[in-house]
Parts: sequence; C-alpha cells; structure tokens
Amino acid sequence: MTTDPEYWNRIYEDEGRPGWDMDGATPLVDELLGLALPLGLRAGGDLVVPGCGYGHDAAELEARGFTVTGLDFAPLAIHGAQQRYGDRVSWSQGDWFTTHLGPWDAIFDHTCFVAMDPGRRPAYVDACARHLRPGGLWMAALFHDVNGRPGPPHAIPMADMRALAGTRFDVLHLGAATGSHPRRAGREFLMVARKR
Ligand SMILES: C[S@@+](CC[C@H](N)C(=O)[O-])C[C@H]1O[C@@H](n2cnc3c(N)ncnc32)[C@H](O)[C@@H]1O
Repeated sequence: MTTDPEYWNRIYEDEGRPGWDMDGATPLVDELLGLALPLGLRAGGDLVVPGCGYGHDAAELEARGFTVTGLDFAPLAIHGAQQRYGDRVSWSQGDWFTTHLGPWDAIFDHTCFVAMDPGRRPAYVDACARHLRPGGLWMAALFHDVNGRPGPPHAIPMADMRALAGTRFDVLHLGAATGSHPRRAGREFLMVARKR
C-alpha cells in the first residue's frame, strides 16, 4: 500500500538506488524556478520538498539560496538525504498529510503528487493549501504519460490537474516541460499555482 511508509522504505532497502532516483536534482529545478520567480516566488524564501527521497532537489534549492525543509515519511529516504547532504537542509521524517511543520512560502513538488494513489488527490491538494502561507506557491512537475505502466507514478491529464488544483489554488502556469531528463522527455508538465 503506497499510503504506508513501509511500502516505500522497503524499496529503498531492497534497491538502494530506486528507479526514480536520478542521483542528482531534476533539471526541472531551473525551469520551475524560472517560471515561479516572475510569478511571485520570494527569492530566499522557505520551501518544502514533500516526498524528498534522497534529497537531491532539496539540496539544489538550498544551494540557490532558499531555506529548505526536506520531508519524507520513509526513514531510509531521510537517512540517505542526511548522509548525502548533511544539515544544509532541515530533514524531517513525516507524513505530508499530517505534518504540522509548516507553513511555508512554497512547495517544490517533484514525484510526490504523482506517487499518490489517485483517490487521495483531493486530500493532497488540501494538504498543500494547509501547509502554505496565504498567497504561497505550489510548484509541481507532473506526468501526463507514464508509458502505460501501472502506478506509481500515476499520470494525470493537464486539464484534470487544472480542475483539481483549482479547488484551492489559482493556477498561474500549466504547460509542457521542455527541460526534462531524457528518460522522461515528452511526458512531464509543470504547474505553478497560488493558494487562494
Ligand atoms: C517516487 S519517490 C520520489 C522521491 C524523490 N522526490 C525523487 O524524485 O527522488 C516518492 C517519495 O514520496 C515519499 N512519500 C510518499 N507518500 C508520502 C507521504 N504521505 N508523506 C511523505 N512522503 C511520502 C516516499 O517515501 C518516496 O520517498
């Protein structure tokens, strides 16, 4: 069950470097920041990376001047992030749906929303809204195509994402990603949405 931290922890234990781990930050950090800064992302603000895994994106965002919390409910993910990047980022083992660590200025969501069982999506959107300050931004890299494989990750059409996020957010940008990792090229899209 993907709702159980043990499901994910066992993958970290069995595989060491799971298939989703790119051994570095997603190239979409550049693209998402390039979109979000003109749309009101506060340079140097505090960000959270939910489902941070081994912490590559969180560490990259810290290197770019943000104050970053990396959150994951799998103990081996947090352990791996700490080992790789030390205390530059505030690592926390916790569940995105129940954490009380926030609020933050912005969320950097890469392969966390898409890892959720689709039935949990409305609750996930509510959690994002709850964890942001008023006017806070949700930046997300999402899949519209997973090559027909059963999830996770789960694909979502762009129009469905607009409708779902639109329940709590103003969607400021929604469009195809242009700088994806070659393994994911043509299958990702990006969203920047502001909490209402
Ligand atoms: C597909 S992995 C992606 C990890 C990382 N973002 C990356 O790209 O390398 C999804 C991650 O989300 C975490 N996760 C899933 N559900 C979560 C939840 N409810 N709260 C916190 N973390 C969660 C898992 O433990 C796992 O590390």
